[in-house]
Amino acid sequence: MAFDMFFIILLCITALTAAQCPDYTSYSSTPHGPFSGGIHNLSYQRPDPNCRTYYSAYTEAAIIRLKSVIIDPDLSRLFENSFPNTLDTTVKWTGHAANNSAEELAFVITGDIDAMWLRDSANQLQSYLPLLNTTATALSSLYRGVINLQSRYLLISPYCNAFQPPIESGLQPNQNGASDTVPPHYDPAIVFECKYELDSLAAFLELSTNYYTATGDLSFFANFQWLDAVRAVLNTATSMAIPTYAPNGSVNKLPYTFTRSTPDGLSTLNNRGTGNPVQSGTTLLRSSFRPSDDATIFQFLIPSNMIFARTLSTASLIASALNATALANEMTSLSSTLTTAITTHGIISDPTHGTIYAYEVDGYGSRNMMDDANIPSLLSAPFFRYLSANDTVYQNTRNVLLSADNPYFMRGPIISANGGPHDTPGYAWPMASIVRILTSSSTSSGDDDNDEIYTTLKELVASTNGLGLLHESINTFNAADYTRPWFAWVNGLFGQMILDLEKRKPEVLARSFG
Ligand SMILES: *[C@@H]1O[C@H](CO)[C@@H](O)[C@H](O)[C@H]1NC(C)=O
Ligand SMILES: *[C@@H]1O[C@H](CO)[C@@H](O)[C@H](O)[C@H]1NC(C)=O
Ligand SMILES: *[C@@H]1O[C@H](CO)[C@@H](O)[C@H](O)[C@H]1NC(C)=O
Ligand SMILES: *[C@@H]1O[C@H](CO)[C@@H](O)[C@H](O)[C@H]1NC(C)=O
Ligand SMILES: *[C@@H]1O[C@H](CO)[C@@H](O)[C@H](O)[C@H]1NC(C)=O
Ligand SMILES: *[C@@H]1O[C@H](CO)[C@@H](O)[C@H](O)[C@H]1NC(C)=O
Repeated sequence: MAFDMFFIILLCITALTAAQCPDYTSYSSTPHGPFSGGIHNLSYQRPDPNCRTYYSAYTEAAIIRLKSVIIDPDLSRLFENSFPNTLDTTVKWTGHAANNSAEELAFVITGDIDAMWLRDSANQLQSYLPLLNTTATALSSLYRGVINLQSRYLLISPYCNAFQPPIESGLQPNQNGASDTVPPHYDPAIVFECKYELDSLAAFLELSTNYYTATGDLSFFANFQWLDAVRAVLNTATSMAIPTYAPNGSVNKLPYTFTRSTPDGLSTLNNRGTGNPVQSGTTLLRSSFRPSDDATIFQFLIPSNMIFARTLSTASLIASALNATALANEMTSLSSTLTTAITTHGIISDPTHGTIYAYEVDGYGSRNMMDDANIPSLLSAPFFRYLSANDTVYQNTRNVLLSADNPYFMRGPIISANGGPHDTPGYAWPMASIVRILTSSSTSSGDDDNDEIYTTLKELVASTNGLGLLHESINTFNAADYTRPWFAWVNGLFGQMILDLEKRKPEVLARSFG
């Protein structure tokens, strides 16, 4: 009898092995109890503990702590579901390099797209940065694993944005289903997609700096291929500084081009894969694609130049501490060149709002006045610490971006926020609402930014269609019409924002959102 009981319990425990765990794309598309009991009665969305992909005791402790800080039951449930989403659902594999058992590796997917993006994975880990304080925890191991795997990717295919599982994982590569022509050739067993995005390179530097600043673990950066990867980042970015024409009028050859057979105008590059011409002499860097993975219209993408300038400067401290002096000097020098170039070429005059940052320029005088919800955006510049939220040009820019003068500011009864052409007009991105809260300051709305934070947060809580997870984009008139039920980055970012509010504006977390 006792044996039978034991056997049955054992069966129950082993019943939910990974193979039997529900597919999280469909799981996250339907409600599950227990319900929050608030006016939105939000669903519980964490997978069964046996189905979670990674465990961090610090993260679990933070979830418990915030239950007594957040008063509103819907906001509390939204935090509980969203903050651990990367750890719960996307750490598809962790292990070690085949040729070096000390080299940790971690493969972190975006969510419902089964591949590892440089930008997304770096940001997914950044959600847990407030909890990273020593080298000895599960979180620090995950950071090292992602940095090492990103180093490997950058050494193999530095122009690409999204990657396949490492060979050591035994996981099968996936196809992105597109028909792309991308010289230089890449190996589809290693690369999932090859869109050249300057901010993907910055993401690696950001992730590295975050780990170094939080842990002081210098030896980690000396032990593996980090310095080589930084060299590859610099070579790649500067290789794309070539203007379209040489002084004698001949057309310069770019090291990277991209074309795709597609009905979508922003999924391919015109002019035989090179994009629109850029003028010489600006010293800005090109980005073929935006952080939305949409093509740039003018390749001097200002937010990506901003984040690259900022992360070069902070990551140079690691190179410098490693005595890689020439490399460190090159990083700080490029950083200050870019900062000057952004000020010279990226600031434009708007008849209503004064001097503002352009989203994209080409050096010929053409500029694109808009913002895109993905980070780096213009709105997020203080979040990635390129400038301070009280910067006058930033404040002018923010006023345009959060108004009907921005072609991609979406408005409606459900939610008002920036979107972008990736999900088309009419769809607002919760990520942009979160960035609005993260970049609010007393300068942005008189002396009381609490109203801006409260109103924006209230919209976010109401925007999940009762499901209790943040979505990629939402029809501003219909919360049931949304994209991507399982998008880990925005969920982690929401949690990061709540931890920021806990320190900066605890009174907001004590309010009711009913
Ligand atoms: C929440 O939803 C559940 C399931 O639909 C329902 O049983 C419960 O009564 C609801 N609670 C509230 C407070 O609306
Ligand atoms: C492991 O292989 C990579 C290339 O795949 C190489 O760069 C690295 O130096 C190797 N490490 C060791 C310890 O052999
Ligand atoms: C690190 O943070 C955790 C909680 O997030 C805390 O319990 C721990 O004491 C901290 N450790 C150090 C060394 O500061
Ligand atoms: C024009 O300039 C480019 C770059 O400096 C050079 O490679 C090319 O040979 C020149 N062409 C002619 C015809 O002089
Ligand atoms: C860098 O050089 C200094 C001075 O020579 C030395 O004390 C230090 O140990 C070196 N650091 C590394 C990481 O090699
Ligand atoms: C602007 O913000 C920075 C920090 O974000 C602060 O150091 C500085 O004093 C502020 N300046 C003004 C004029 O408020």
